[in-house]
Amino acid sequence: MSGIINVMNEDRYILGIDTSCDDTSAAIVRNGDSILSNIVSSQSDIHSKYGGIVPELASRSHVEMIWPVVQEALFRAKKGLDDLDAVAVCYGPGLIGSLLVGCSFAKSICYSRDIKLLGVNHLEGHIFASVLDEMSPAFPFLSLVVSGGHSSLYRIEGFSRYEELGRTRDDAVGEAYDKVAKMLGLGYPGGPVIDELSRKGRSDSIKFPRPYLPDSLDLSFSGLKTAVRNFIHKNEKNEMVSSEDICASFQRAVVDVLVRKAEWAIKRTGIKRLAISGGVAANSELRESMKLMAEEKDVELFVPPVHLCTDNAAMIASAGYMHLMNGKRSDMTLNPKAYLPL
Ligand code: KG4
Ligand code: ZN
Repeated sequence: MSGIINVMNEDRYILGIDTSCDDTSAAIVRNGDSILSNIVSSQSDIHSKYGGIVPELASRSHVEMIWPVVQEALFRAKKGLDDLDAVAVCYGPGLIGSLLVGCSFAKSICYSRDIKLLGVNHLEGHIFASVLDEMSPAFPFLSLVVSGGHSSLYRIEGFSRYEELGRTRDDAVGEAYDKVAKMLGLGYPGGPVIDELSRKGRSDSIKFPRPYLPDSLDLSFSGLKTAVRNFIHKNEKNEMVSSEDICASFQRAVVDVLVRKAEWAIKRTGIKRLAISGGVAANSELRESMKLMAEEKDVELFVPPVHLCTDNAAMIASAGYMHLMNGKRSDMTLNPKAYLPL
């Protein structure tokens, strides 16, 4: 792993826990970058009929799943609680009831076994997901985190040295995906199904706006979402318009903006290393278009495999390892925070 020297040369095992939203996840990671297990129990079946996450149902499901998921992670890694050097838990941002389950569980393990506790910001986890890949970026690098709750561009100078270069002024990209999917009756989460339908549609069939916000690295997706809503209302009875074309045209607009923003950030900072992560980084068109841009501009691009882009606990353990090696610890006063800037 770049930027960290393990002077003791001993293996460190971290149990990562993430219950920030609608997935219960636990992972065992060795030395911050070697995944021994990474279990994700999805709640999408519970929430899909509501077209979005119902927070109370999410917390209840975490309560039921947390222990089985942690046990499975330990079992697959062939480790026991006594083999752990630390427990890294996501304590925000996220749904407060959901975070509370993971935090209370992590604290009780650490207290009962006298293990170190590491509180990790969810966004820091997404950033360090790129370290879990075979090729990890050296510092400094740019990180585009695009998920259901967040969309930001960061300059990462080293551990705990993060500068936010731009952020969404309204909706997160994933949120826009989920809302467009709801308008089209496609269920929740919207990203994967829109990604799939887009392959069958024509991306140049509808001219949706590109919110570039010139001179800024901020993002904005609510206008684009409204444009899609207006288009759907106006064309309700138009049989010539297909959901596939709407999806493809919406997705093209999103991807055009994200790629352009990344290009601007590279130009502005002179940093030619870019990592993308978060659930929307699982998007096939975004991955392809970023790759083309990176080749054209001679930029090193780091894109984690899809299962490490969406929420998972291995990324929390990876960021936790940075805390551990930099002497940062949490204690039993660690409390979850729904709002937690990086
Ligand atoms: O990172 P993540 O798993 O959870 C949050 O931290 O929010 O991101 C979830 C978001 C959802 O909005 C989902 O629709 C979106 O990521 N997503 C995608 C794709 N897969 C998941 N968006 C576009 N294309 C995808 N293939
Ligand atoms: Zn996330």
